[in-house]
Amino acid sequence: MFSYNQKHKMEFLLISIPLILLWWQSCNAFPARSFYANQSTLELVHLLFRHGDRTPETNNLDPNNPYYAENNYYPYGYGQLTNVGKVRVYELGKNLRKRYNNFLGKAWNMSSLDILTTDYNRTKMSVELMLAGLWPPTCSSIWNPVLLWQPIPYNYEKRANDKELSPFLGCTTLDALVNEVMNNSSDYINARYGEVFRILENGTGLQNITYLKAFFLYFGFTIQENLNIPLDYWVYTVYPEPLRSLAIEYYYVETNNTKLRTIMSGYLLKKIITDTQNKINGFSPQGRKMHIYSGHETNIAALLLSLDMLKVVELPPYASYLAVEIHRIDEIYGVKIFYQDYSSEDPRGPLKLPECEEFCPFERFVSLVEGILPKSDEECYGSSTK
Ligand SMILES: *[C@@H]1O[C@H](CO)[C@@H](O)[C@H](O)[C@H]1NC(C)=O
Ligand SMILES: *[C@@H]1O[C@H](CO)[C@@H](O)[C@H](O)[C@H]1NC(C)=O
Ligand SMILES: *[C@@H]1O[C@H](CO)[C@@H](O)[C@H](O)[C@H]1NC(C)=O
Ligand SMILES: *[C@@H]1O[C@H](CO)[C@@H](O)[C@H](O)[C@H]1NC(C)=O
Ligand SMILES: *[C@@H]1O[C@H](CO)[C@@H](O)[C@H](O)[C@H]1NC(C)=O
Ligand SMILES: *[C@@H]1O[C@H](CO)[C@@H](O)[C@H](O)[C@H]1NC(C)=O
Ligand SMILES: *[C@@H]1O[C@H](CO)[C@@H](O)[C@H](O)[C@H]1NC(C)=O
Ligand SMILES: *[C@@H]1O[C@H](CO)[C@@H](O)[C@H](O)[C@H]1NC(C)=O
Repeated sequence: MFSYNQKHKMEFLLISIPLILLWWQSCNAFPARSFYANQSTLELVHLLFRHGDRTPETNNLDPNNPYYAENNYYPYGYGQLTNVGKVRVYELGKNLRKRYNNFLGKAWNMSSLDILTTDYNRTKMSVELMLAGLWPPTCSSIWNPVLLWQPIPYNYEKRANDKELSPFLGCTTLDALVNEVMNNSSDYINARYGEVFRILENGTGLQNITYLKAFFLYFGFTIQENLNIPLDYWVYTVYPEPLRSLAIEYYYVETNNTKLRTIMSGYLLKKIITDTQNKINGFSPQGRKMHIYSGHETNIAALLLSLDMLKVVELPPYASYLAVEIHRIDEIYGVKIFYQDYSSEDPRGPLKLPECEEFCPFERFVSLVEGILPKSDEECYGSSTK
């Protein structure tokens, strides 16, 4: 008869032998050759992605909506990542692991990644899940043999201070500039969407529907449809079109001129450029591979439009991403930009800046975007010191 302790030792051995074999195999079966040839020239990746599927925020809903109450979105609550969204961003992480496997290698350490998210529950949860797919522990970093997950830290700025990822909330100069564009285009906007605003006012019971409110309601309708919650019959008179066009056009409004592009994309671009310079000059932490940004569809659309890289005709879908890849080819550092919008299996790209090549030498890239790089915090907060 086994004693209690012996019995447990036996169980432990029986369980651990296959696990040790698995561990041995995965630690030694490192692919010998680069899966994607291009990874051999890769030096650094700046990755901006959109969170996964979510429930509506109150600003996406109207009080007349029979599904306004939060218990309709049980167990998530307003504005939160859903289970469908969790799967989507986890899969994103696994796909990025495939795309960058050889470049990233297997061993993660504190220097490998630098991660910023916006101050939203859904973007924080999304980046956690993305990282679970991107970087499961291997070998000596396995701390629990049945949970192949490792904690990886992220950072965020409070919304009011987040110039890089939430300028639409934090930058006090934004509204007046957007209103100026709207005002200048008011004839066009009224001709194209005036009727839509009236229908929305009548249907929602809200007075004074603004362009921005219509934009938010469009997201609400989309989300409700995705959750299989019925929409009021009147909604279909404006949804999906022309509300969908209105929503997409908003990205053109918020990037309509140099000042707006500076606010909406300039601070993030400045960080991307600084981080790249540090990498090139050997000032970044040893082994730095990727800067990851967990944000929103508006971050992606604004960057695409601010750099005139793509005519945006669709909303950047959940878990879409922009990858700003820094390659060194023949001793020249340069930028290749890819956009995964799931219109096909591979991301689009390399996308071109109008005056550069698909592989855009870094110095040239910097000189082309210089016009929308902020000089200080003033572009975001105005002359009042913050
Ligand atoms: C890799 O480079 C080849 C040739 O330069 C190009 O055709 C291909 O699209 C690139 N793939 C990626 C993932 O960058
Ligand atoms: C996270 O969600 C909770 C519950 O809805 C909410 O109270 C909190 O404000 C959210 N935090 C952020 C940063 O969005
Ligand atoms: C608005 O129109 C005025 C007068 O045509 C022009 O000076 C100004 O630059 C325009 N503003 C924007 C943001 O387009
Ligand atoms: C709005 O546009 C009109 C006509 O272009 C102009 O007269 C007015 O000053 C503008 N108002 C603002 C606040 O920009
Ligand atoms: C306003 O809404 C009511 C129902 O709430 C509807 O009967 C009516 O046709 C609507 N009017 C317009 C102009 O859409
Ligand atoms: C409607 O919205 C505009 C722009 O936000 C504002 O100036 C105006 O006072 C509002 N009118 C009413 C009746 O709320
Ligand atoms: C500026 O905004 C208007 C809509 O108000 C849009 O038609 C136009 O294409 C925008 N211009 C740019 C350069 O994005
Ligand atoms: C992380 O790994 C790299 C090699 O990939 C190494 O150069 C660096 O010193 C390591 N950093 C830390 C903090 O361990």
